[in-house]
Amino acid sequence: MEITNDIKYVGVNDHKLDLFEGQFIVPEGMAYNSYCILDEKIAIMDTVDINFKDEWFHNLENILKNRKPDYLIIHHMEPDHSANIANFLEKYPDTTVVTNAKAFKMMDNFFELDSKVKRLEVKNEEELSLGKHKLKFIFAANVHWPEVMVTYDSTDKVLFSADGFGKFGANDTDNDEWDCEARRYYIGIVGKFGNQVQKLLKAASSLDIEIICPLHGPVLKENLSYYIEKYDIWSSYRPETEGVLVAYTSVYGNTKEAALLIAKKLEEKGCPKVAIADLARDDMAEAVEDAFRYNKMVLCTTTYNGDIFPFMREFITHLLERNFQNRTLAFVENGSWGPAAIKVMKKMLEEAKNITYTANNVTIKSALKKDTYQAIEKLTDELCNDYR
Ligand code: FEO
Repeated sequence: MEITNDIKYVGVNDHKLDLFEGQFIVPEGMAYNSYCILDEKIAIMDTVDINFKDEWFHNLENILKNRKPDYLIIHHMEPDHSANIANFLEKYPDTTVVTNAKAFKMMDNFFELDSKVKRLEVKNEEELSLGKHKLKFIFAANVHWPEVMVTYDSTDKVLFSADGFGKFGANDTDNDEWDCEARRYYIGIVGKFGNQVQKLLKAASSLDIEIICPLHGPVLKENLSYYIEKYDIWSSYRPETEGVLVAYTSVYGNTKEAALLIAKKLEEKGCPKVAIADLARDDMAEAVEDAFRYNKMVLCTTTYNGDIFPFMREFITHLLERNFQNRTLAFVENGSWGPAAIKVMKKMLEEAKNITYTANNVTIKSALKKDTYQAIEKLTDELCNDYR
């Protein structure tokens, strides 16, 4: 696939993977992108997952014809992109590997490379000329690992953005929708590093970019301000959509009944968007994504061993790990003899910045009764105050 006259796509699609990075479901597969810049010197941008060595080599050979690559540029050492470095160097031993000091250190942790391997260690903002194409390396520590860098090709105005602007999903599916799986990917994988993403966006704002080539998902060629704005919202922890996520766990169905009733009432009272997640059964990463997407959330759980139900504890832990902040929260607790879930959840969330708590919460003692219905009415009134 041609990105520009000189830049070709040589990546692969994975439709067999069950869990990306050992935890994220990928029902539409995954793409490991790799690119080739054909110039007086030839540069290959990253390798692909270990299971796709042959397919990647085949793609490379098709593009290279009988030429040999001069540079292998490594933006990120996570194995979904770096696993074939040693295989590549075995096939093309005269190639110079180009990356930064941190990445070389990681490379030596992952591989026992021959001492004859040619290495070019670059500094932040250092440039490399391929002939017509001038490349500039911009360090982007922690977007997603500390060694990450991106490359700007000023000739074709292309940003090779590493994991940034990536998404779940193979590139050969029919689904053109970008936001949903890009958001789930961003929040799940890069969400903790908002400040570092902000820094990268700032650095990128001074560049004239016409094409973004990420390591996952489609190459972005049009309407780039749309994607950049999404990244700005996500990385600054601002809510993206006016609405409420109702996230619940339920043992015997009573807490679930309250959660579903709250969702129904919110819709009836004009809430523009209501999402619901059963934390024991639905995709946890999608629930986490929705918690960051909407501006309000209702957490509903049972008191369990004097604590909260395990899936709710896991969910809140995921939120805190990703610097959850700037949202409005409400609680529903259930407890037959000593309800304590609201207290536990509030305590856990103390470290989250700029959280507004609703004045109304709901306590269920085993099953929904008249007083529960009244409390739900009050809570949903409060959450929908702005919509009426
Ligand atoms: Fe796609 Fe952080 O690796």
